[in-house]
Amino acid sequence: MGKKIFSGVQPTGNLHLGNYIGAIKNFVDLQNQKGNECVYCVVDLHAITTKQDPKILKNNIRETTAAFLASGIDPKKSIIFNQSLVAAHSEGSWILGCIARMGWLNRMTQFKEKAGKDKEKASVGLYIYPVLMTADILLYDSTHVPVGEDQKQHLELARDIAQKFNLDFDSPDFLRAPEPLIQKNFSRIMSLKDGTNKMSKSDPSDLSRINLTDNKDQIVNKIKKAKTDNDPLPDDNKNLSKRPEVENLLGIYSSLSDQSLKNSINEFSGKNFSQFKEKLTEIVVEKISPISIEINKLLKDIDYIDTVLKEGGKRADLIASKKVLEMKKLIGF
Ligand code: AMP
Ligand code: TRP
Repeated sequence: MGKKIFSGVQPTGNLHLGNYIGAIKNFVDLQNQKGNECVYCVVDLHAITTKQDPKILKNNIRETTAAFLASGIDPKKSIIFNQSLVAAHSEGSWILGCIARMGWLNRMTQFKEKAGKDKEKASVGLYIYPVLMTADILLYDSTHVPVGEDQKQHLELARDIAQKFNLDFDSPDFLRAPEPLIQKNFSRIMSLKDGTNKMSKSDPSDLSRINLTDNKDQIVNKIKKAKTDNDPLPDDNKNLSKRPEVENLLGIYSSLSDQSLKNSINEFSGKNFSQFKEKLTEIVVEKISPISIEINKLLKDIDYIDTVLKEGGKRADLIASKKVLEMKKLIGF
C-alpha cells in the first residue's frame, strides 16, 4: 500500500543545500513512488514563532513554494499549500495543546537551542511549535513524515500526543501515529565554514551555505572557500569523524552523485583537495543551478505561484477540516 506523506518547510528565507539533501530531494522521490499521497506545506504559522517582517515573509512564502516546484514537486501529483490558508491547523493545534503535557514539551531540544539563554523572552508560540507540527501531521492521517535528523524528537512527540488523544477519548486508531522517514546517510549537512555546525538559514555568514538561489559563480566561490584541512584526502573512513569538514564535503558529493560514502572515498583517495573540489563544484552546479534558474523564473510569475498555493489550500482544507470536525465530536463539542 502507498504511504501518506506530510512534510513542511518554514518560509524563513535562504533555502540551502542542507534543506535540499536532508528534505526536499526526498519529497520528490516519495512523490514519484507509485501509490503515495503527498502533502507538502510551507509552514508560515511556524515561521512567525520568531519575528518576521510582513513583506519579507510574503516573499519567502513564494520563494519556498518556488523552490518546491523547481526541485520537482508537481502540484498535479502532490498537494502544495501554505499552512495559514487552512484554519484547521490552528484549531487542531489548540486541541492537541490541551493533550500534550508540559513535561513533554520541556524536553524538546530544538526549543532550548532556538530560545537560547533567555528563555523568558522566547515567544509562547516557539514553545508550543511542536504541537502545531503535530496537528499538521495528524490532520492528514499521515503515515510517514520525511524530515532531517533534527526533527526526530518532534515526531516522537507527535506519536505520544496521538496515543494520548486516542486513549483519553476512547477512540483507538483515530489519530494515526506517524513514522519519521529520515535518510540514513547524509541526513545532516554541515556548514562549509565549520563542520561541527549544521548548515543553517540563520548562519550570519553566507559563505557557510549554498543557497538554492545561488548562481554558478557563487557556488564556485563558496566551494573554493570551504574549509578543509592540511592532510590528504583519506583512504578509508576510519578517522573521518575527526575531520568533520572533509566528511561533510565527501557526504555532499556522495549524496548528489547518488553513491555511497565508501565509493566517494575510493574515488578521491590519494588526490588533493583542489582536484576533489573541482569535481564537487561540478556536481553541485549540475544539480543546483537548474533549480536556481527555475526558482528565479517562477518568481517572475507570482500569480502562478499564488494559484498553486490557493488550489492546494482548497484540497488540504477538505481533508484537514473534516478531521478537526471529527475531533470536536469526540471531545464533546
Ligand atoms: P527548516 O529549514 O528548519 O524549516 O528545515 C526544513 C527541512 O530541512 C527539515 O526537514 C530539516 O530537518 C531539514 N534540514 C534543515 N537543515 C538541514 C541540514 N543542515 N542538513 C540536513 N537537513 C536539514
Ligand atoms: N518543524 C519543521 C522544521 O523546522 C517544519 C515542519 C512544520 C514540519 N510542520 C511539519 C515538518 C510537519 C514535517 C511535518 O523543519
